[in-house]
Amino acid sequence: KRLWGLIAAAGSGQRLRAGTPKQYHHLAGRPILAWSLDALCQVPDIAGVMIVRAADDALFDRASLRRDDRVRDCPGGAERQDSIRAGLAALRDWGAAEGDGVLVHDAARPAVPATDITRLIEAVADDPDGGLLAAPVRDTLKRADAAGRVADTPSREGLWQAMTPQLFPLGRLQTALARDTRVTDESQAMEGLGARPRLVAGDPGNIKYTYPEDIHWLANAIERNRRR
Ligand code: CTP
Ligand code: MG
Repeated sequence: KRLWGLIAAAGSGQRLRAGTPKQYHHLAGRPILAWSLDALCQVPDIAGVMIVRAADDALFDRASLRRDDRVRDCPGGAERQDSIRAGLAALRDWGAAEGDGVLVHDAARPAVPATDITRLIEAVADDPDGGLLAAPVRDTLKRADAAGRVADTPSREGLWQAMTPQLFPLGRLQTALARDTRVTDESQAMEGLGARPRLVAGDPGNIKYTYPEDIHWLANAIERNRRR
């Protein structure tokens, strides 16, 4: 039984309004995608990493990513779940088996510590329901009404923010994503099959690059990882 990595890097970064997709923005001198790729490649147990990039991606080949026999790429799709489906099929073509595990990771999360990935693997590699890195919600939550006023204050007891990587058995994840429901992460797709993925506490610094100011937090997190 082997472990594979899958990096979702086929988005266009609309919320950043930057022109260039965010996975190619530079962080500490290197593209965001290079950091995310290295995070997975650092894990010796991973047999290979599939990068899902946009079909018309002109920047991929110029991003000077590590290219060795553990790294391949394939075209993605319109929605993130389409990209993940394409990446899983490409992993199967590469030789991945149904029973193998796949770590799905957002290209836009360059600051995941290697130790978090290792902890996730140790916690769920043999679990058919898989699991994900996540962090307990920190702030008090407010539900808004239509007028922008507070409707109520939901308890944050038991609420977590989902992060990536998320680790699942490849075949089950393919089945989960073959159903035609919209999901925002792989865990939600698995939940649709009745799975109860395990939450593994991860570093809150593993944020997703979504808005311009996030780049400063990410630079700090990368620096912290270096000193670890
Ligand atoms: N992603 C993907 N294929 C898509 C859409 C998104 O592989 N069709 C990837 C992105 O490249 C990103 C990750 O999924 O690494 C998380 O998505 P998100 O943060 O939403 O990135 P974008 O979709 O690029 O950004 P936005 O939603 O602001 O347009
Ligand atoms: Mg998106």
